[in-house]
Amino acid sequence: MSTKKQKPKSAPKAEKSEAVKPEQAEKKEIPEELLKPDAEVQPEGGVMTESLIMVRNLEKHYGELHALDGVSMNIEKGEVVVVIGPSGSGKSTFLRSLNLLEMPTSGELIFEGVNMLDKHVDINVHRQKMGMVFQHFNLFPHMTIMKNITIAPMKLLKKSRAEAEEKAHSLLKRVGLDDRAESYPSQLSGGQKQRIAIVRALCMEPDVMLFDEPTSALDPEMVGEVLDVMKSLAKEGMTMVVVTHEMGFAKEVADRVVFMADGKILETGSPEEMFSNPKTDKAKQFLASVLS
Ligand SMILES: Nc1ncnc2c1ncn2[C@@H]1O[C@H](COP(=O)(O)OP(=O)(O)OP(=O)(O)O)[C@@H](O)[C@H]1O
Ligand SMILES: [Mg+2]
Repeated sequence: MSTKKQKPKSAPKAEKSEAVKPEQAEKKEIPEELLKPDAEVQPEGGVMTESLIMVRNLEKHYGELHALDGVSMNIEKGEVVVVIGPSGSGKSTFLRSLNLLEMPTSGELIFEGVNMLDKHVDINVHRQKMGMVFQHFNLFPHMTIMKNITIAPMKLLKKSRAEAEEKAHSLLKRVGLDDRAESYPSQLSGGQKQRIAIVRALCMEPDVMLFDEPTSALDPEMVGEVLDVMKSLAKEGMTMVVVTHEMGFAKEVADRVVFMADGKILETGSPEEMFSNPKTDKAKQFLASVLS
């Protein structure tokens, strides 16, 4: 586990706090998960989990196809989780379920203490806190880079144009593309478009960034520039869930590597554990094929 996460220890606080008694907690309909010993009880009576995202028994069926089969995991604030596995193992389905681009068939998904599968929750509000970067950049072709980047913060976060553009410029500078603000996507290389897609997601000030094979559509010479942006984000403490075949990135940046096969998480461990000592035959086979 990375040293950058310095979370307050919750146990003493929970013991000392008399603000929340179990019966009060029940009245507030707090999800059961949050009442477990590792949940943090706030002095003012709220209950907060330490995990940014908690997934429990997530299932996704596409007709007969069981794309997610009882997936459970916690994602901590500041953690970088890399998801690997063979094609069709459910990696994209899992990632897309986290921000409900796919609606899971059943299970629990708690993000920042909010039960995302509760019908009464306005998922759009919470989904905005999850940035997503896809294999194909999904930029609007008829808009300049600046428009592409500022449209969502202006519409959804109600930022003024000046405010949105200021933020956009500072992020564009960070990825070395401020001089391309008035270009159109077709005038940029794949690597540049992907860096813009990352900036577009960051402009929404997300609490977690989800990446689905962000470099696999790129020419090899452009992979590095995109991974560099992702590495710097990770170093700054951004919580990231990354589906990738870039094992070098996983080794260097991941706190945890999760191996999926047949819609299940078969193994999870540090990059060292996963790459040097995979336990299941499926992980061994997969790693032998990608690391050879
Ligand atoms: N919209 C859909 N409708 C029906 N089946 C789907 C749909 N999306 C995914 N699937 C199926 O669900 C399974 C998991 O797919 P998913 O895209 O999550 O795999 P993946 O691990 O991301 O694979 P890849 O490495 O090829 O991207 C696959 O068998 C796939 O064909
Ligand atoms: Mg996929």
